[in-house]
Amino acid sequence: MRKNIVAGNWKMNLNLEEAKSLAGELKAKLDQLKTGLVGDNRSIPEVILFPPYVYVTRILDLFPNYQGLSVGAQNCHHEDHGAFTGEVSAHMIRSVGATHVIIGHSERRSQFGEVDLLLAEKVKQALKHGLTPVFCCGEMLPERENGNHFQVVADQLQKGLFWLDKAQLGRVVVAYEPVWAIGTGVTATPAQAQEMHAYIRQLLSDTYGEAIAQQTSLLYGGSCNAKNAAELFSQPDVDGGLIGGASLKADDFFRIIQSF
Ligand code: PGA
Repeated sequence: MRKNIVAGNWKMNLNLEEAKSLAGELKAKLDQLKTGLVGDNRSIPEVILFPPYVYVTRILDLFPNYQGLSVGAQNCHHEDHGAFTGEVSAHMIRSVGATHVIIGHSERRSQFGEVDLLLAEKVKQALKHGLTPVFCCGEMLPERENGNHFQVVADQLQKGLFWLDKAQLGRVVVAYEPVWAIGTGVTATPAQAQEMHAYIRQLLSDTYGEAIAQQTSLLYGGSCNAKNAAELFSQPDVDGGLIGGASLKADDFFRIIQSF
């Protein structure tokens, strides 16, 4: 059975106090959920927080040995170490206890020129150092309007991931994030999300076999919020979400966590 996952991508937001208080509020709510004090604790997804690099260890410290909650980084460099001023390697991220890393977010692709081949190197680094890559793919609006969205996503997966062997691919989480839906308040409809997720799962099945395809978690991202999460997550191939804006408010994020 594949895992349901709700991940919070905090991007470049919050100062340290705000970040700690968001994580603390979330922990209190999760504690209540786990002990059955609030809500239904039969379908709690795995929760992953992606704070900015500088807060990673501070957030980890708030959740020592906490079952079902992981902390990751929003990016990593494609080399192990070296003269790369300002960069952070997968090795460093793993060494502080983080377990996940986002690779190929559309903001990295469009604002920092990260191309498919570089992303493939980053995936390699992440896996080499024992991090779970959350690999993002998704089309831009004109590409969808031209009917090219399936091809764009297939290409991104082909170049970024499909050179991995089966065992490696089995350690990857895929996030489908249509660029036109990120931070815009325009969400893909549940049908659009399902259609693309089913397509991605079919690609995985064609390339790696049905077993791997069925075990890979596929997350939806792009203006997912407390109101639309339940309908999105009820789609058969949507296994959770990568949440930006709505992950910055403990109440909203917690409601998304409870949306399965
Ligand atoms: P959003 O961002 O939820 O604010 O649209 C999602 C993401 O960029 O991962």
